[in-house]
Amino acid sequence: MQLDVVTLFPEWFDWFRGQRHVANAMAHGHELRTLNPREHTPLSGGQVDDTPFGGGAGMVLRVDVMDAAMRGFYGVDPVDLRHQRRVLALTPGGRMLDEGFVEELAEEPAITLLCGRYEGFDERIVQHFASDPVSVGRYVLSGGELAAMVVMDAVLRKLPGSLGHANSAVEESFSEALGGDPEYPHYTRPAEYRGWKVPDVLLSGHHEEIRQWRRARSRERGAAGTSGSSLP
Ligand code: ADE
Repeated sequence: MQLDVVTLFPEWFDWFRGQRHVANAMAHGHELRTLNPREHTPLSGGQVDDTPFGGGAGMVLRVDVMDAAMRGFYGVDPVDLRHQRRVLALTPGGRMLDEGFVEELAEEPAITLLCGRYEGFDERIVQHFASDPVSVGRYVLSGGELAAMVVMDAVLRKLPGSLGHANSAVEESFSEALGGDPEYPHYTRPAEYRGWKVPDVLLSGHHEEIRQWRRARSRERGAAGTSGSSLP
């Protein structure tokens, strides 16, 4: 998969690239590129944003700047680009990211992620250049960069070569294998710590009983709408 991020802060993604599962995915032929609109802006002084029409706080990323950056990078009108590859605009009001959406994105050969800053994008960027506005939650981040990393992290772990263990992503939270429920709890050594015991069934070696126990815990968590971390 080719992942392109349009961002005013490309250096943020150096850290992301260095993470083990991301580096593994790159070693398997997946690609992560960044494009900085500031380097393509037709405006003087590297200007990329402007004050909002109608007044209000903050700065808004300009549509003409985004147009020039994407056109320069891809060599096509960004209005057409979104018919050639998924172009996600990260914005708090977008389609909420969930496991189904992640699986859909993981099927794509190429995705572009547009990051807004400050007060976000000129709305015409979302309307005319994006195939999908995407939100990672009903809260406001100071830019789309962390949201883009959330999307890419969730997508990359679905791709072959990213996770060490081939099955790690198959039976995980919200997967089809778990009927869309959150994952069951995991335990490791020691079997008892400060009096907190690992459930006996997990130490029993009975694979079918373990499978049933895990399925039941997963269903419980799904029904409760929690990952089971409620305080006593
Ligand atoms: N940009 C700012 N906040 C965001 C959010 N919650 N999701 C996606 N992009 C964002």
